[in-house]
Amino acid sequence: MKKVAVLVSGRGSNLGALIAAQRNGAPYEIALVLSNIEGAGGLARAEAAGIATHTIPHMGKSREAFDAELDAALRAANVDLVCLAGFMRILSDGFARAWEGKLINIHPSLLPAYKGTRVHARVIEAGEAQSGASVHFVVPELDAGPVIAQASVPVHPGDTPEALAARVLEVEHTLYPAALRLLAEDKVRLEKGLAIFG
Ligand code: GRF
Repeated sequence: MKKVAVLVSGRGSNLGALIAAQRNGAPYEIALVLSNIEGAGGLARAEAAGIATHTIPHMGKSREAFDAELDAALRAANVDLVCLAGFMRILSDGFARAWEGKLINIHPSLLPAYKGTRVHARVIEAGEAQSGASVHFVVPELDAGPVIAQASVPVHPGDTPEALAARVLEVEHTLYPAALRLLAEDKVRLEKGLAIFG
């Protein structure tokens, strides 16, 4: 059974979905929840589920120093896989390379469209008819790694960024456990910059 760490900075609803899937028999064990934010909602969720938590404040540290602490905590916990779930820190190239193929993220757009921030507002401004969410391998370039799984939702006329975000979030909660399951069962791997299935 693969041991997983989940990294959160906020409320952790995706973490909640990963925990629920584990309870329902998903083939992974969340061994550690890590945050850069003291008091993040995701930490409380983890504690309630009996999962070990660890906070590494980023204030006053260089990116490399923070990432070195993060790396040490992950290695001390002996985890196989790392899931970013609303983790609001850009990771250094060195960290991304060290965990290549074992590090995944969920992003609330149909990548490669709408990388970065303000995703839902930009999707609405552009008049898109659909949006969605993507789980992808993390590579040094932001939101650019190969996609493992995607789910789409319609954009409705008159949508606000908040309404669209809520619709996307709902599918995230099914998508992330499904994608993690593929990785945990070795049904997808990162090879030469591609996600290879089977
Ligand atoms: C999600 O929309 C995810 O796609 C993005 O950050 C948000 C995290 O939400 N990366 P939550 O903390 O999991 O509720």
